[in-house]
Amino acid sequence: MDRCWLWLAALVCLTDAPAGDPVAVTYEPSRFFRAQILPILEHRCYECHSEAEGQDDGGLVLDSRSGWEKGGDHGPAVVPKDLGKSPLVRAILSHDPGSLMPPDDPLPAIEIALLQTWVLLGAPDPRP
Ligand code: HEC
Repeated sequence: MDRCWLWLAALVCLTDAPAGDPVAVTYEPSRFFRAQILPILEHRCYECHSEAEGQDDGGLVLDSRSGWEKGGDHGPAVVPKDLGKSPLVRAILSHDPGSLMPPDDPLPAIEIALLQTWVLLGAPDPRP
């Protein structure tokens, strides 16, 4: 799929123009996280990375902000605003079957674009 369209789709998810005012755009970090990012983590990652479910593969839990801040065996999973230094981003893009996340089940391109957008926005996460 064309990358420009993916970024556009991700940006459309961020925007919310009130009726009658097509120019005004509001972006609420915690709303973006809860609406766009949390469902991806819940459905694609918690199975193996959730403290609540007792799963911390690679030493990593993703069901709290402190979980990805502390990170796994290789340190913090996300470096806010830095795609290249964020192991989470490298893992979802990996061509190495041993590193790809979720294993054997690559994310759809739109979910990859949303997670990248989240990291670029500074990884807002209202959870403790
Ligand atoms: C089926 C289980 C499973 C699922 C689902 C899964 N992971 Fe993993 N993950 C693992 C395992 C196992 C490791 C450890 C791999 C290793 O050490 O070689 C790991 C390691 C990682 C690491 C590296 C942690 C470190 O510091 O070494 C990251 C980042 C990661 N996963 C992110 C994710 C993300 C993001 C998702 C969801 C999009 C996800 N994983 C879904 C099993 C899973």
